[in-house]
Amino acid sequence: MDRDQEKPIKILFVCLGNICRSPAAEAVCLAYLQEQGLERNFSIDSAGISGYHAGELADERMRRHGSNRGYHITSLSRPLGYADFYEFDYLVGMDMSNKDAMIERCPEADLLSKISILTEWHSGAKCDHVPDPYYGGAQGFEDVLDLVEDCIPYLIHQILKR
Ligand code: 4NP
Repeated sequence: MDRDQEKPIKILFVCLGNICRSPAAEAVCLAYLQEQGLERNFSIDSAGISGYHAGELADERMRRHGSNRGYHITSLSRPLGYADFYEFDYLVGMDMSNKDAMIERCPEADLLSKISILTEWHSGAKCDHVPDPYYGGAQGFEDVLDLVEDCIPYLIHQILKR
């Protein structure tokens, strides 16, 4: 069937606070899909393991570093909920602690296969996880963007091959 007529593939990016890494992944992914003409084939969102920052815009540093590369990071933080495990086709965390927390919260064993971390999709990624930049300096935010930009095309094209 023509992919344009199929239901969109739904990806949820997940990090701890949903104010740094997963909003960046969401924005980079949306920009990549637009660049590739694939935006109608996917639906993208992000969420946090914690609800500490619920309702907040992404961290100002993440928005600024993203904006310097042309990404408009506009998402508001929200916590991961049980419905997300049913709603989304792929739940993509940023590190093993995100993955462990998703596995722990997953309401049904059948849904566990939806859970991964972003760097698993790119065997040549520079790091095996996307490090948390929250308590560090500017370079941490650049590293998040570098890793996310590097891994997103692999994620999208492997999903499309399935
Ligand atoms: P994120 O970064 O998981 O990439 O959104 C963090 C944001 C906030 C906190 C930790 C990590 N926090 O402890 O408040």
